[in-house]
Formats: sequence, C-alpha cells, structure tokens
Amino acid sequence: MRRISVPLLCLWNVYCCFAAGSPSPLGPEARLQDVRHRSREVRPASKPPVRFNLRTSQDPEHEGCYLSLNHSRPLEDCGFNMTAKTFFIIHGWTMSGMFENWLYKLVSALQTREKDANVVVVDWLPLAHQLYTDAVNYTRVVGRSVARMLDWLQEQGDFSLGNVHLIGYSLGAHVAGYAGNFVKGTVGRITGLDPAGPMFEGVDIHKRLSPDDADFVDVLHTYTRSFGFSIGIQMPVGHIDVYPNGGDYQPGCGLNDVLGSIAFGTIAEVMKCEHERAVHLFVDSLVNQDKPSFAFQCTDSNRFKKGICLSCRKNRCNSIGYNAKKMRNKRNSKMYLKTRAGMPFRVYHYQMKIHIFNYKNMTAVEPTFSVTLYGANSDSETLPLEIVEQLGLNATNTFLVYTEEDLGDLLKIKLTWERTSESWYSLWKELRSYLSQPHNPQRELNIRRIRVKSGETQQKLTFCVEDLEHTSISPGQELWFHKCRDGWRTKNETR
Ligand SMILES: *[C@@H]1O[C@H](CO)[C@@H](O)[C@H](O)[C@H]1NC(C)=O
Ligand SMILES: *[C@@H]1O[C@H](CO)[C@@H](O)[C@H](O)[C@H]1NC(C)=O
Ligand SMILES: *[C@@H]1O[C@H](CO)[C@@H](O)[C@H](O)[C@H]1NC(C)=O
Ligand SMILES: *[C@@H]1O[C@H](CO)[C@@H](O)[C@H](O)[C@H]1NC(C)=O
Ligand SMILES: *[C@@H]1O[C@H](CO)[C@@H](O)[C@H](O)[C@H]1NC(C)=O
Repeated sequence: MRRISVPLLCLWNVYCCFAAGSPSPLGPEARLQDVRHRSREVRPASKPPVRFNLRTSQDPEHEGCYLSLNHSRPLEDCGFNMTAKTFFIIHGWTMSGMFENWLYKLVSALQTREKDANVVVVDWLPLAHQLYTDAVNYTRVVGRSVARMLDWLQEQGDFSLGNVHLIGYSLGAHVAGYAGNFVKGTVGRITGLDPAGPMFEGVDIHKRLSPDDADFVDVLHTYTRSFGFSIGIQMPVGHIDVYPNGGDYQPGCGLNDVLGSIAFGTIAEVMKCEHERAVHLFVDSLVNQDKPSFAFQCTDSNRFKKGICLSCRKNRCNSIGYNAKKMRNKRNSKMYLKTRAGMPFRVYHYQMKIHIFNYKNMTAVEPTFSVTLYGANSDSETLPLEIVEQLGLNATNTFLVYTEEDLGDLLKIKLTWERTSESWYSLWKELRSYLSQPHNPQRELNIRRIRVKSGETQQKLTFCVEDLEHTSISPGQELWFHKCRDGWRTKNETR
C-alpha cells in the first residue's frame, strides 16, 4: 500500500496552522519531493495521474472507457457523442484512495436524467490521496489537465464548451474552477458541491472557484461553520451560492444528537454526512425533478430564519441543483432553504406575519408560540415559531415555518402558547418573566390576524381570528384563525 491514510484530525491540525497564519509544518520542499517520489515509485508508469473515464454503463463495476488526448479513434469507439451534453465529475481529497459511493450515485443519476449525455469521471486519485496540503497544491495541475482535455475535444469538430458542465465536489470544485479558468473559451456551467474551505477561504479569485470560471457557476454549501473548523468554504464563490439549512447542521446528520458526548468515529461520520449532503441534494434534483427544492435569496441566514426572505420577485428564488436557472447577472448571491433529512429533500416554506398587541403593557414577555396549519390535503404537525432575536411587542413579527408535506390550500391555523416548559431554558425564561412582573401574573397578548405567504406558490393569504371579541391569548391557551382573505392588504392596517 502506498500511504497510511491521513486521519481527519491531521486535517484539523493542518487547518489550524493555516488559520493561525503560521507556515505549514508540512510545507518544506524536501517533504513534498519525498511524497511525490514515493507515489511515483508505486504508481505503474503507464497510469497517468489524471484519467478521464467515460462511464458507458450504469454498473459501477463496469470499467468504462478511458479518453486520451490525441486519440480520436477511442472517442468514437467509446460512444462519445460530440453534440450531446458532457459532464465531468471531479472528486475531492480522499483518505481511502478509492472512489466513494456518492460518485456512482451521481453518475447514474446523470445518465438517467440526460440519456444522450457523456458522463466523464475525472480520476485524480493518486494526487488526491496525499496530505491535504499537497492535494490542494495539485488542484491547479489537475485543473490544467481537464482544460487540456476540453481544448482537445474542441479541436475535434462539433464539440461545444457551452454543453460542458463540470461538477466538482470539495477540492474537486476548485479543480473545476482552475479548469474553467485555463480552458480556451468558457465552459457552460460549473457546479461546486460544498467546495473545500481550508486554504481556499478568502483567497484570490484565481486560486479558487469563482464566477469567472464558467458561464454559470452554482454552488451548494452544506458544511460551513462560522467558528472553528469549516470543511466547506463559507464565502460565496459562484453566481448563486445556496446554503441549505443555513449551510450547517444538516438534518439527519445527527450532530444535535451527539453534541456534548462525541466519539471520534461519530464526529467523522457527521462531518462526512454534512459535507456529502451537497452531492445528495444535487442527485435529488436530478432524479426527483417533480419535487424541486426552492431556495430564496437573503443577505444572511438569520434573516432567512426570521422568515423575511421568501420572495421570488426579480429572480430572488431559484430551484437548487441541476434545475437551477442560469443567473449570470448575479454574483455571489446567497440563497437559503430548509430541507428534509433525506430524499426527496424538498419542504414547503411559509412566512407568517403576526402583529402582537400588548394591551396590558407587559415587559419582557417571551412567549413560546407554535402553530398548526390545516390544509385542504392534510394538516401540519405542531410547528414552533422560532424567535430568532427578540419578539417585538406592539409590532409585526415575521416567522418562518416549514412542512415536509404539501398541505394544499390552507384553510385555518391554530396558534398555541405553550405552557409546559420542556427545557430548563424555557422554564428559566418563564420564571424570569414572572419575576419581572410579580404583580401582574396574568400574562396576556392579543392577536387579530395572521398573514401567510407560501414560498413555493408565492400565494398570500390572510387569516382572521375566529371571534374579534376574543383576541387574547395566555400561556396554555390557543387561538383559531380562519382564512378571511386572499392576499394581504397593502395599507398598514393594524389598528
Ligand atoms: C498531443 O499532440 C500535441 C501536438 O499535436 C503534443 O504537443 C502533445 O504532447 C500530445 N499529447 C500526448 C499526450 O500525446
Ligand atoms: C447525440 O446527442 C444528440 C443531442 O443530445 C442527440 O440528438 C443524438 O441523437 C445523439 N446521437 C446518438 C448517436 O446518440
Ligand atoms: C506545489 O507544487 C509545485 C509543483 O507542482 C511546487 O513547485 C510547489 O513548491 C508546491 N507548493 C507547495 C506549497 O507545496
Ligand atoms: C401597546 O399598545 C397599547 C395600545 O395600543 C398600549 O396600551 C400599550 O401600553 C402598548 N404597550 C407597550 C409595551 O408599548
Ligand atoms: C408601559 O410601561 C412602561 C414601564 O414599564 C412605562 O414607561 C410606559 O409609560 C407604559 N406605557 C403605557 C402606554 O402605559
């Protein structure tokens, strides 16, 4: 065997060194030469470090067909269709030195969706199976190889760069960036699937994936952390940059379950699950075309969580993954969405606008509200109204809720002020608001209507309280709202 796999913790250390701005302890030239030397020794001389494998079958065991520069005969023999779409799938850094399962899933999803397309796997395993820092250094070389292959294909006649879609995962996203930069002409599209962060965050556009690398660059960010170690790049690097679930803590990856007591194995699994989620979201967009997920442009994740950004006006919303519409006039446009924990990932987003009256002039009330939505097709579960910063009293508050099921046309809404304190934190909150108002233990707020906007349909509806004489709600109580109007009244009419 060539090398012992580099444990993730090592990657951690490497990153810390770089983050701290100190030089890499692995940097010395002698060391790199050593690595290169060793890998050359073991690699058969006939096997180039970058290979282009045209997948001619859905069977992962099938060998496929290797494309080589200056041999146009194999191109025909392989069944390469010069006028069809061409996908290049570019993997990232590897610990195992082998292809991972996601690759075959992606190949098969592309072949299913685009029957005529050429699906080419860029195999740079020998260069990716190195210390992370070295693999990063090779991205440029590999990008140049891809560009050379594309240039040569262009010389073969009918081939058009506009039909080329490079799909790069992790480090592979930056390889795609280099390829797009080096190629003669402009490739049609690059999709970055959670582009690698360490050693790319904040660097010059020529040293990472950027919107200049293709006619359209779209990016999915699934493992970003604003503190500590971020495997995926946080900064936007495409025309549109989609951050599912805020770009971190992907549902179903179990970080919340293990936080606090983590075994190394588990944390590695969580990292892999969240990082790889980008690939699965892309695969989902290919195979579940009838269940597209939409993302909404927003300046940051908190504003999205507050439900402020569910607009589709002026191209502010888009499908994610393969179905994304080209947005060349945008650059580094950040988009957000919530997802399910598995395929199909799509959910239904709703914005809720609620004016909360505080007639009793209470201070420091932090109610725990939740809603249940009743639709023509089905009813939602109890959905908590998350207070992202602070609740505004005598003010209109906006909330984001989402459902996994399509409820159909909404008919009514139940609003509940949860009394039961399920956590010590909410118990503390209740106690605190009680203590601040000891002479006014009867906590009460008033709500007359709820305005709802569906992100998916852009439909706006107004729900009015059942009985205008009874608009007050206290802990442990509920209020019912019925659909009273299509649309929202444009004038501010909260009086
Ligand atoms: C392909 O041909 C070009 C010139 O026609 C040459 O420079 C290049 O080295 C050749 N590449 C390979 C891999 O044979
Ligand atoms: C090649 O692709 C084009 C465009 O998708 C398609 O019209 C044509 O039928 C394909 N040719 C073959 C031989 O499959
Ligand atoms: C990166 O690789 C090139 C050769 O491709 C080498 O000259 C250079 O020193 C390497 N840089 C680092 C930081 O290892
Ligand atoms: C909210 O408005 C009502 C009248 O509309 C007023 O009585 C109450 O004191 C106000 N509460 C606060 C906290 O300003
Ligand atoms: C509401 O209470 C605050 C003090 O808690 C007081 O300053 C304010 O004047 C009150 N407003 C009304 C309208 O009663």
